[in-house]
Amino acid sequence: MAEHYLSPSILCIMLTALVSLAGAKVPAIIVFGDSSVDSGNNNFIQTMARANFEPYGRDFPGGRPTGRFCNGRLSSDFTSEAYGLKPTVPAYLDPSYNISDYATGVCFASAGTGYDNSTAGVLGVIPLWKEVEYYKEYQHKLTAYLGRRKAANIIRESLYLVSIGTNDFLENYYTLPDRRSQFSISQYQDFLIGIAEVFLKDLYKLGARKMSFTGISPMGCLPLERVANLDDPFSCATNYNDLAVDFNGRLRRLVRKLNQELSGMKIYFANPYDIIWDIVQNHHVTDNPLTCSDANKFVFWDAFHPTERTNQIVSDYFFKHLKNLFH
Ligand SMILES: *[C@@H]1O[C@H](CO)[C@@H](O)[C@H](O)[C@H]1NC(C)=O
Ligand SMILES: *[C@@H]1O[C@H](CO)[C@@H](O)[C@H](O)[C@H]1NC(C)=O
Repeated sequence: MAEHYLSPSILCIMLTALVSLAGAKVPAIIVFGDSSVDSGNNNFIQTMARANFEPYGRDFPGGRPTGRFCNGRLSSDFTSEAYGLKPTVPAYLDPSYNISDYATGVCFASAGTGYDNSTAGVLGVIPLWKEVEYYKEYQHKLTAYLGRRKAANIIRESLYLVSIGTNDFLENYYTLPDRRSQFSISQYQDFLIGIAEVFLKDLYKLGARKMSFTGISPMGCLPLERVANLDDPFSCATNYNDLAVDFNGRLRRLVRKLNQELSGMKIYFANPYDIIWDIVQNHHVTDNPLTCSDANKFVFWDAFHPTERTNQIVSDYFFKHLKNLFH
């Protein structure tokens, strides 16, 4: 009977609807955080926290140091490429780029920074609140460049990628006396979570709706911490790893709460702990990747930062989830 079949015109409308759903693309990647995602902002401020010299960037396109704390690209660069955007995300303070470049991706991150203002103070880098100020300035420039409607679409549909937190513990709390004299480690985590909540709500108020919010990695396995592990030299420092698990649990609860509270906001909690732990367990850390010709064989590039290969594995792992959430 004819009424059991869809008419060609109805089919056509349905197909069009499907295509436009699938076409709800991520128009840009907007990045906040620390050295895990800083693509060169620190080159343009007064700080020692820089990576604009060799051998950094050895495997970057053109083999040049860019300020990325890596031999090549960062996970944020790989995520941008996976979305069909640029293969690298330009740093906002780099004068060789302008708003037409930033319309498809921009990075406000600063190596050495943290949630805590005083962490940014240690090496004189960009505090997180200032990254947000730069983002507001970016919104104005974007609106002036593209007009209100197009700019608003980019602000709403972009993927916001946030990766920050390790420095608050390693560079600040466990290195300098101030925060340790003010807070127990549990109180300090609560303090950081409070700042993270204000930050995420600020981005929401500014228009962000799609976010990949990164937890912290097993920081006790960073080469720096392994060398300093007096209990068991060269193996992972379990106290720092336990702390990372604890902090990630708190971040996850915050994300769950905000996903319920903030209407229309979708935050994916990108927890790098397990994947990096697996990579570390399957590698040995004897040679030095700085002097070895093939950095791809290594998990870490310097005492603190993963190699490009590790960044790519981690980015691919998260992207499987992200592409289902945000087309
Ligand atoms: C951005 O820079 C490119 C060349 O580097 C130039 O062609 C373009 O006009 C500039 N766009 C704006 C909006 O300034
Ligand atoms: C960090 O500093 C900014 C700017 O001075 C300030 O607005 C903000 O309240 C500070 N954050 C905390 C948690 O103290």
